[in-house]
Amino acid sequence: MEAKEATRTGPSRTEREDFQATSDPALQSADQGKVKLLGYDELYGLWERQQWLTQELDFSQDRTDWHEKIPEEERYQRLYGLSSFFIGEQKVADELGPMMRAAPLENQRIFLATQIADEARHVRFFDRFFEEVGVLENAGELRQRLDALEENLNPAFNELFDDLLKSRVDRLAEEPGDQKALIEAVTLYHMVIEGMLALTGQHFIIDYLERNDLLPGFREGFGNVARDEHRHVAYGTWFLKERCGSDPAMAERMRATLHELLPVASGVLVPKGADPENWTLLDYSSEQVNEFAFKALSRRLKAIGVPLLVEQPSVPA
Ligand SMILES: [Fe+2]
Ligand SMILES: [Fe+2]
Repeated sequence: MEAKEATRTGPSRTEREDFQATSDPALQSADQGKVKLLGYDELYGLWERQQWLTQELDFSQDRTDWHEKIPEEERYQRLYGLSSFFIGEQKVADELGPMMRAAPLENQRIFLATQIADEARHVRFFDRFFEEVGVLENAGELRQRLDALEENLNPAFNELFDDLLKSRVDRLAEEPGDQKALIEAVTLYHMVIEGMLALTGQHFIIDYLERNDLLPGFREGFGNVARDEHRHVAYGTWFLKERCGSDPAMAERMRATLHELLPVASGVLVPKGADPENWTLLDYSSEQVNEFAFKALSRRLKAIGVPLLVEQPSVPA
């Protein structure tokens, strides 16, 4: 399918006031100077003002687009991206409870409780889309839909979520006082999974759908999901700045975690079965996608005060 020329006249989505309100450093232009980050109570207040309902989305045009405008082979190419988001939302919703319990301050836990509600809403959003658009044949309930999509994931996805994230969250469930494990978990969850991977995929998928005027109900809901994710990442940025910005031992723990995770994280962006050195996401090149992800991470790390000391990682063959 050929991409149409961009026809936007207003500001891009992330320049909108509601996206800018999250103060995610990745949304600020690099030369804007010091970023004013939001604290936990301000982020909670923003959550109250940024509610939305999955049940209000209208997927009727999406159903027509999916079955009539998108060629069959393209539908299956898209399933990698959509499957990883759907299953990813379910996994992060499941893992956040022990991280909330381990957060030492009351207002941190209150914000994380709102984030658990958001992640549940994101799962419901995908579930409604898959069901009402009829993406899968013969998949009845939420659990069956998730199981049916597992085969579209690549090994790096499973390593990141089922090994690297789960082991840290299991440790926190056993020992909520382990603050080093909490730094590692927030680095992995908020900086890498949400900040680097989810928001990158969302950026390119929404941009493509806007340019081609496809799936309007999905686009609206996914835009709301992205705004929520910027708020979640803003929490992680503030938390890590407070804990690591002036504590060299914690900063070192965060940096070591990133060095361990980045090669795996880069692999998660590669669609299943694609050449890891040369792949595309819709009609964007791997260089464009990796550069976007790495730039966003670098801006957030700069705001935290723990800049990364490595070049953009390459994906292991
Ligand atoms: Fe989410
Ligand atoms: Fe999130």
